[in-house]
Amino acid sequence: MVDTKVNLSGVELDNPVIPASGTFGYGYEFAELYDINILGSFSFKGTTLQPRFGNPTPRIAECSEGMINSVGLQNPGVDKVISEEIPKMAKCFNKPVVANVSGFSLDEYAQVVRRLDSVPQIGIFEVNISCPNVHNGGMSFGTDPKNAADVVKRVKAETNKPVYVKLTPNVTDITEIAVACEAAGADGLSLINTLLGMRIDLKTKKPVIANKMGGFSGPAIFPVALQMVYKVYEKVNIPIIGMGGISSAEDVIEMMLAGATAVEVGAANLVNPYASRDIINDLERVMKKYNIERLCDIIGGAH
Ligand code: SIN
Repeated sequence: MVDTKVNLSGVELDNPVIPASGTFGYGYEFAELYDINILGSFSFKGTTLQPRFGNPTPRIAECSEGMINSVGLQNPGVDKVISEEIPKMAKCFNKPVVANVSGFSLDEYAQVVRRLDSVPQIGIFEVNISCPNVHNGGMSFGTDPKNAADVVKRVKAETNKPVYVKLTPNVTDITEIAVACEAAGADGLSLINTLLGMRIDLKTKKPVIANKMGGFSGPAIFPVALQMVYKVYEKVNIPIIGMGGISSAEDVIEMMLAGATAVEVGAANLVNPYASRDIINDLERVMKKYNIERLCDIIGGAH
């Protein structure tokens, strides 16, 4: 019998697999397909203060080994998330969840966290300072160490729950942002969000995506994500949730060896809605194959 438990800042997970924000709705959509209580946890769709319709369509472009999205933080706004989405979620998921929070100002981040803080099922906040698909917010906080630290300080003042910061890879040195977040009080880090990308339609000779560019994710970015997790692990002493193209149990092990305590599975859920479940079901086989008894023992093992 292998042990797949991991611990994120006091929140114990049965296994390290967490469907990523924006690829798993509020869970109940997937609960029609399988019992989602098999998951370690999941990160629900990024929440803003006001409802957001999102970006104009087309918002998705396909690529070999990946996809580009420019959703634009579509969500019903924090009040409806609390009154309508979380109660539906709670009916089919009985573990702590990760609340992904986005904002366009320091005050917005603080207000959203303040309201969500009263939801008992939220175990961890994941503060998204890395959305590449919006102007004047999102990634602009995540590309400057001081701005990133300011968000962390404001959010930490609103909650005693662990605050993880979701980092963008679209910077020269991700470790600089990671270190600034840790110094400002972040309890953990999530990395990486999507890489900026685009496609051009040869027939129209125009960008495929209405917003021109979007966030590139999927298996193609796995090696990029892995090296960033590896580098950040060497610079900080807080847990890392590793993500970027994870689509197999082998990828989970590799990401943990690089330094991740848990992982998020994103684009794979959009290709196969059973992907996160299948990865979890395959973990034991892969652990046995590589003589791993306890997953938590391999965190950072490649260093
Ligand atoms: C989006 O809603 O545009 C995606 C969120 C993100 O990439 O952070």
